[in-house]
Amino acid sequence: MPDDHHKTAARVQPGDPAPYYEAHVFCCVNERPEGHPRGCCKKKGAEALRNYMKARAKELGLMDVRINQSGCLDRCELGPTLVIYPEGIWYSYSSIAEAEEILQTHLIGGKRVERLMLQPGDKLPEDRKK
Ligand code: FES
Repeated sequence: MPDDHHKTAARVQPGDPAPYYEAHVFCCVNERPEGHPRGCCKKKGAEALRNYMKARAKELGLMDVRINQSGCLDRCELGPTLVIYPEGIWYSYSSIAEAEEILQTHLIGGKRVERLMLQPGDKLPEDRKK
C-alpha cells in the first residue's frame, strides 16, 4: 500500500499544472448488502457526514475545496473514511463534531486532526478497538 511518501512526491513532475482544487476531499458513501463481512461506510452514517461536510464547506466559503462522495476506498473496516488530496491524508470520522473538526483544523487551519488520522498499516483506530 502507498506507505512511502517518496513515491507520491516522485509522481509530481516539473511543469505539471497546479492542482485544480486547493483540497479535494473524497468521502466514502459506499453501501454493501446487509451482513457483508467488511461492512460499509454508508451503514455507519457516511452519507449524512458527507452532506454536512459539503454544505458546511459552502457555508464557510471554502471555494477552493471540493467535497465529493466516493465509492469504496477499500478501508471499509475503518469507516466512515475520507481522504484529502493532494496531501493524501486519511481520516476515520463518525460524527458531525468530527466532520466539523476536520473542516476547521485541516481544511481551514492547515493542521491535522491527529487522533482521527489513519496510517497505512491501520486496522482499527485505537479508540475504537473493543
Ligand atoms: S465502504 Fe467505505 S471504504 Fe469501503
